[in-house]
Amino acid sequence: MANFPDNFLWGAGSSAFQIEGGWDADGKGMTVADFNSFKRSEIQADTKVASDFYHHWKEDIALMKEMGMKVYRFSISWARIIPDGDGEINPKGIEFYNNVIDELLKNDIIPFVTLYHFDLPYALVEKYNGWEIRDCAYAFDRYARVCFEAFGDRVKWWQVHNEQNLMIRVDERMNITEPDPLKADKIRAQMDYHMFLAHALAVNSCHEIVEGGKIGPAVSSTCTYPLTNKPEDVWSAKMNDWFKTNYCLDMHYYGEYPGYYMRYLKERDIVPVMKPEDKELLKSAKMDFIAVNYYRTLCTSYLPVDDEHPIGMRVYRGNQVDFDQYGYCRDEKNVNLKASEYGAQIDPMGLRIVLNEYYSRYRLPLIVTENGLGTADVLTEDGKVHDDYRIDYIKGHIEAMSLAIEDGVDLFGYCPWSVIDILSSHQGFKKRYGFVYVNREDMDLKDLKRIKKDSFYWYSNVIKTNGKEL
Ligand code: BG6
Repeated sequence: MANFPDNFLWGAGSSAFQIEGGWDADGKGMTVADFNSFKRSEIQADTKVASDFYHHWKEDIALMKEMGMKVYRFSISWARIIPDGDGEINPKGIEFYNNVIDELLKNDIIPFVTLYHFDLPYALVEKYNGWEIRDCAYAFDRYARVCFEAFGDRVKWWQVHNEQNLMIRVDERMNITEPDPLKADKIRAQMDYHMFLAHALAVNSCHEIVEGGKIGPAVSSTCTYPLTNKPEDVWSAKMNDWFKTNYCLDMHYYGEYPGYYMRYLKERDIVPVMKPEDKELLKSAKMDFIAVNYYRTLCTSYLPVDDEHPIGMRVYRGNQVDFDQYGYCRDEKNVNLKASEYGAQIDPMGLRIVLNEYYSRYRLPLIVTENGLGTADVLTEDGKVHDDYRIDYIKGHIEAMSLAIEDGVDLFGYCPWSVIDILSSHQGFKKRYGFVYVNREDMDLKDLKRIKKDSFYWYSNVIKTNGKEL
C-alpha cells in the first residue's frame, strides 16, 4: 500500500530509435544511434525495425489506454523532422508525430516529449563533428522551435536532452573517435558545454513559444555508496556523484560549473571555449522540473594517483576506474544488494535517497521518467510471460517513491521503462524492459505480435488504485 496524490501521473516510456523502426521511412535521415546499431547488425537487432511502432502506433496506443496510462514519455527523432539536422523540414515527419500526439490525446494520455534521446542526425557529425562545433547548438534550437511550433498547441510537457550527463561519457554516442584520452576529454568537455547551451536555448524557446509549456532535463541519476567508512572511500563515492551527475544539474540550475568541476577542467587543461554572452543565456534559462532516470546504485573505493595507478588508467585489477584528477573511484560490488543478470545493483532505497537529495537541493518538482528491469523474458507455451521479477522490482521502487513523497518531495509522475519491449540502447532485443512482449528475436523478426505480460495486468491495477494495491 502506497500513497500518491490524486493527480499523480502514472505512465511509461520509450525513445524513438528504440521503438520506432522505419529508420529511413518517409524521408527520415540516418542518426548516430542508427549508425552505431548498424555496426552490430550481424549479431543483434538494430534500429531498422526495432519494435516497429512506426507501423503499430495505433495498436500500441490502444494498449497504453488499456493499461490505464495517464502519460506517455517518448522522444521525437530529430532526423525524422529535419533529416540532415539543420536543413529542410520533412512534412512526413511532422505528420507522423501529429498522428501519434492526436491519438494519445484522443485516449486521454498526456504526451511527455523528449527532444533528443541519443539520436543526433548523422549529417551533423559529418558537418560539425556533432556537438563539437557551436553551430550544432543553434541547429538544435532551430529543431526544438520547429517542434514547439508544430506540436506546442497540444504538447505542454517537454524534456530537452535525455541523460546528457551519461551520454557525454560514452564515446560511441558522442561519436568521439580520438584515441588520445586527454584530447578526447577536451573534445568531450567542449561538446558537453555546447549541449548546455542548446539546453538553455531550448528552455527559453519553449517558454517563448509554447503557452503553458513546461520543460526540463532528464538526468541519469547517480547514487554512490562508499565501500567502507574510510574518508577516502567516502570521497570517491561523493566524487562519482558530483562528476557524473551533480555538476550537470548545477549547470542547468545555476548556469555555471561548480568550483570542483571548473578546477578539474582547468587542471586538465580542457576548459571549453565560451563566449562572454553565454553567461547570461545560461543563467536565464529556468527549468520547470527535473526528470530523474533511476535504475540502480553504485559502490566505489578510492585509489590515489601514483606510480601503481597513473593518470589515464581505465581499469584496475578487472574493475572500472574513473576520474584521475583527484584520485580514482573504483567500481565495487555491493554485497548487500542483489544484481540483475546485467550487473545492475537493485536498490529501491537508492531512489528514495536520490529524490530527497535532488528535491532538497533545487526545490523543483520531480518526475521519474525511467526505472525498470532489463532481462530476457520467456514466452511460455500458453503464450504468456510470467515476469514476477519485474513486478517485484517496480513494486519496490513505487514504495520508495511513496516514502519520498511522505518525506516531502514534490514528485508528480512515474514512467517506468519501457511501455512495450524495445531495443536496448546497446544490447539488442534480448534485454527486455516492457509491460508488453514484442514477439521478435534479435535476428528473427517473427510476427512482432504484442503480448501482454503479467506485469501489464499488475501495473494496470496499480494505476487504477492509484498505488493503493501493489
Ligand atoms: C537509459 C537510457 O540510460 O537506460 C535508455 O535512457 C536505455 O535509452 C536505458 O534503454 C536502459 O539501458 P539499456 O542499455 O539496458 O537499454
